[in-house]
Amino acid sequence: AVSLRQLAAAADVSVGSAVRAVRLDEPDYGHWVGEQLSTLTAENELKWDQVEPAQGQFTFTNADKIVQFALDHGQMVRGHTLVWHSALPSWVGAIGDNTQLEAALENHITSVVSHFGTGVDVWDVVNEPLDDNGYLRTSGTEGFWNNRLGAAYIANSFHWAHAANPSARLYLNEYGIESDSAKARGLYELVKGLLAQGVPIHGVGFQTHKLETTRLSGLADTLRRFADLGLDVAITELDVRMLLPADADKLARQASVYGWATAACLAVPRCVSVTTWGFTDRYSWIPAAYPGWGAATMTDASYVEKPAYVAVQQAL
Ligand code: XIL
Repeated sequence: AVSLRQLAAAADVSVGSAVRAVRLDEPDYGHWVGEQLSTLTAENELKWDQVEPAQGQFTFTNADKIVQFALDHGQMVRGHTLVWHSALPSWVGAIGDNTQLEAALENHITSVVSHFGTGVDVWDVVNEPLDDNGYLRTSGTEGFWNNRLGAAYIANSFHWAHAANPSARLYLNEYGIESDSAKARGLYELVKGLLAQGVPIHGVGFQTHKLETTRLSGLADTLRRFADLGLDVAITELDVRMLLPADADKLARQASVYGWATAACLAVPRCVSVTTWGFTDRYSWIPAAYPGWGAATMTDASYVEKPAYVAVQQAL
């Protein structure tokens, strides 16, 4: 059978998934990743707590494994993610002085991006900066970077990442922006402002974590709107969860959502990739993050392709 990556190549897009380094050695898992995907995202292995658990002490073993796998299989890598309020090691929050905090952020970005060089093609430089109201986050730990360093942390982070690897494509990645909403409009204004200031931002990532009951109408329009700013766009974390147990109706509706998302990307010339957040129900973040929910990926716990896989295949 023709693989997703072959279909994607013919359609001039890339198809990917978040992957887990420790699973790549499992034959079923590794085989699927190598055969079906043309882009890999480290699900957690590049997050701050994983790569710099103590200040100035970097551990890249797991991330390197994913990057090497991609190199061996002719795949691209999306580096996820440099600046996020989540997955921060406690030492970051313990820095009391804002100048020192900014220096730690700059050092983190510079060190991580430099380590990989051209091994990472795309960076999610800033992840989830916005509140649902469309403004930068301000509340509690979620508002950490904005509260401590002000809005300039975003522009600065892109400049530091660009200096460390001028050839990488630099993205802002966000969820809940797939249809017109206060958040989508806020992000549009934010990105437009960054571009007007000459910030090296090259793309916007649409996470696209959805439910099987979601109607994804409007996604192509939203993608196009951002693309018209002169940016690449990408679907970066597609998954479609359902209340367990799964049944045929839910799986059919889920397949529609996968198909719509893929078709929306293909309808927009600047949409470069469709990446799912996991590809097998055997290893998906959903049951842990949303108790009672699951079956969110394209293959079941035994890697049997679900209707969602067929829908992606047909959309490609
Ligand atoms: C999730 C991972 O899948 C989980 O394993 C981890 O425990 C928490 O983070 N948005 C993002 C991703 O940008 O980094 C998140 O990944 C899912 C939501």
